[in-house]
Amino acid sequence: MTDIFAPATLGPITLRNRVIKAATFEGRTPEALVTDELVEFHREVAAGGVGMTTVAYCAVAPGGRTDRHQIWMRPEAVAGLRKLTDAVHAEGAAVSAQIGHAGPVANAASNRAPAFAPSRMFNPLGMRFTKVPDRADIRELVAAHAEAARLAERSGFDAVEIHLGHNYLASAFMSPMLNRRKDDYGGSTLNRARFAREIVRAVKDAVGDRIAVTAKLGMEDGSSGGLRMRDSLQIAAWLQEDGALDALELTAGSSLLNPMLLFHGTAPRRSFAKALPLPARLGFRLIGGSFLKEYPYREAYLLERAREFRRELSMPLILLGGITNHDTMRLAMDEGFEFVAMGRALLREPDLLQRIRADLTTRSACIHCNECMPTIYTGTRCELRPEQPVR
Ligand SMILES: Cc1cc2nc3c(=O)[nH]c(=O)nc-3n(C[C@H](O)[C@H](O)[C@H](O)COP(=O)(O)O)c2cc1C
Repeated sequence: MTDIFAPATLGPITLRNRVIKAATFEGRTPEALVTDELVEFHREVAAGGVGMTTVAYCAVAPGGRTDRHQIWMRPEAVAGLRKLTDAVHAEGAAVSAQIGHAGPVANAASNRAPAFAPSRMFNPLGMRFTKVPDRADIRELVAAHAEAARLAERSGFDAVEIHLGHNYLASAFMSPMLNRRKDDYGGSTLNRARFAREIVRAVKDAVGDRIAVTAKLGMEDGSSGGLRMRDSLQIAAWLQEDGALDALELTAGSSLLNPMLLFHGTAPRRSFAKALPLPARLGFRLIGGSFLKEYPYREAYLLERAREFRRELSMPLILLGGITNHDTMRLAMDEGFEFVAMGRALLREPDLLQRIRADLTTRSACIHCNECMPTIYTGTRCELRPEQPVR
């Protein structure tokens, strides 16, 4: 049986174990640059025993951020990122940069740059219409992902995770509902996958085998007319065939249309409404109930879907969603997944893995209240962890 605590290879790198801290946007970059607080956030997670932590979110362009306080990858960011990767390495963990473009989830008003979407639509955070990228824009966006990966390598990252989920830009291209293009980036599944595949290829060409390249892929958006399993299974098979990825992390849901499918558990409607920028808050008051649906929480809630990917693919897969204890980690290994990723449980207790290792019956204190979700605007934290700084 695969031991979750034994070292494991991820493409060209070796992780000290098979547990990855999933990307949870940290909200600790007010100047769009690394702060000591951000370094400490990841140092603490690394000291807690994970094999690799993930810095989120590293946008590939200023307009690709969900607000302008997020890092975008540019030469000025490298020194701070280097400090962060050094701090994580000193604790014995590896570190990945989640790179991507938020597309229709970007906040055009805050970024003071248009939000891109495959077809024209309303950008709810920015309260304006999106820009539809033409061929030249697409080429530039692909190149921006490659440049972000190069900068990540220069900053000392061991891996990059390309964001292909949650209806961020690459994922929006995959959605038949959001992508109504008539060119060779729209229509058939092959065309809707083209942008994502070009990004992955460009990133791999940029960093070669010097660092690992993974992607976070949506299995389904959970919106009517959005990406379905049949298409995402095909897209994953193409990504495998392309041979540019060292592992695929499987997610579900849409930050734009159905965020609760990502999380399951209680929908934090009141605090989410309060945390939104004013115009979006008014919109949320009108449609909040249907936007934040409730999916009952259970351990490994994405396993049934992910199992279908495991059956179809031979490449390494990372199981995500509701992994909080050793029984679930073992289940993931028994089901043939190479790694597990954990988000909320490590926000609640960054040292959880170390404690699980000492006592395999340890249970997480995370109650899936999802009150961490709205804190992304003020410094991401577990609200049940009073010692966390609140800005
Ligand atoms: C506060 C918060 C912020 C998040 N930010 C990101 C992000 O920046 N990028 C991303 O891909 N996923 C993000 N996620 C989703 C997580 O990576 C993960 O998919 C989700 O929390 C389910 O895993 P879990 O059950 O282990 O928490 C975020 C989740 C939370 C709770």
